[in-house]
Amino acid sequence: MNKNFRRKRILVTGGAGFLGSHLIDRLLERGDEVLCVDNLFTGDKSNIDHLAGHPRFEFMRHDITFPLYVEVDQIYNLACPASPIHYQFDPVQTTKTSVVGAINVLGLAKRVKARIFQASTSEIYGDPTVHPQPEEYWGNVNTIGPRSCYDEGKRCAETLFFDYYRQHRLDIKVVRIFNTYGPRMHPNDGRVVSNFIIQALQGAPITIYGDGNQSRSFCYVDDLIEGFLRTMDSGPDMPGPLNLGNPSEFTIRELAQQVIDLTGSKSTIVEMPLPQDDPRQRQPDITKAQAELGWQPQTPLREGLAKTIEYFEGIIRRNALPAERLIP
Ligand SMILES: NC(=O)c1ccc[n+]([C@@H]2O[C@H](COP(=O)([O-])OP(=O)(O)OC[C@H]3O[C@@H](n4cnc5c(N)ncnc54)[C@H](O)[C@@H]3O)[C@@H](O)[C@H]2O)c1
Repeated sequence: MNKNFRRKRILVTGGAGFLGSHLIDRLLERGDEVLCVDNLFTGDKSNIDHLAGHPRFEFMRHDITFPLYVEVDQIYNLACPASPIHYQFDPVQTTKTSVVGAINVLGLAKRVKARIFQASTSEIYGDPTVHPQPEEYWGNVNTIGPRSCYDEGKRCAETLFFDYYRQHRLDIKVVRIFNTYGPRMHPNDGRVVSNFIIQALQGAPITIYGDGNQSRSFCYVDDLIEGFLRTMDSGPDMPGPLNLGNPSEFTIRELAQQVIDLTGSKSTIVEMPLPQDDPRQRQPDITKAQAELGWQPQTPLREGLAKTIEYFEGIIRRNALPAERLIP
């Protein structure tokens, strides 16, 4: 090994979750040391079980709304429940995780001079009046609705990141993630891809909210994680925010149909009332990520869905589907 090589020690908050666990796999694969911090609110040890005993991996059960003192070179801040069912379960804690959590990890980054990455979200655009959404769009967000704990919490976290950038010259990277799917999504989080797949695999009716003509874009997890790594490795003059997602749009009804085709299910499609503040359309403008990172999603929806279906088939086969719709 080159004697000048010093492997990086990287903190991933929310590392036992869906995206965090995939990110950790990639970091370990390329030789980094990883400290995974998670309070296991929506994350699960099963997502990181395969790393037990790995010499460069460490897990710490900790809630990021409390300060953390560790020595690291880089921080990926992913801790936050991401699906409406989960973030509305304890909305005050959701806002605390985004805001107080951001203050804690930013303070840590400042102290140890670490580069720090924030997993922000397309939800900061709210119910957008501009389509597709470029990073310059300021959003259309309800401050007092049931989704506000997440949307406004994430918006405030972005504000904090940019204030630390300007005020303390912290090396920040902010990405706005659009709908991502893949293996290790929480089976019961009510997100559309996992919902449809489980319903199809169980031969239950596939529930779509509204008429199903609302559109979404779905990014496969491997593509997103590639975007995370390229963002983190980009020059210090690129704080973001950067949209990461797949611009190919599908209606919810088309998604349901693809899942039915791929699983060979006999499920029918049924319509349910649209939840409050549900955006009609969401599509990333990824021009900036393409130009600055040379990044764009590579995985076609059908291919990503097939891998995700395989994962859920495994869970159902092992009888490991959580019984309850709600969490701890
Ligand atoms: N998956 C998506 O499509 C998507 C879209 C936009 C943004 N994001 C963002 O990406 C990040 C990861 O999302 P995900 O889909 O992996 O969700 P997830 O729920 O699977 O992962 C979040 C992780 O954070 C942990 N966590 C929650 N509160 C915590 C706290 N206070 N302290 C420590 N750990 C805590 C959870 O236990 C979980 O392991 C989140 O910040 C989310 O807002 C995800």
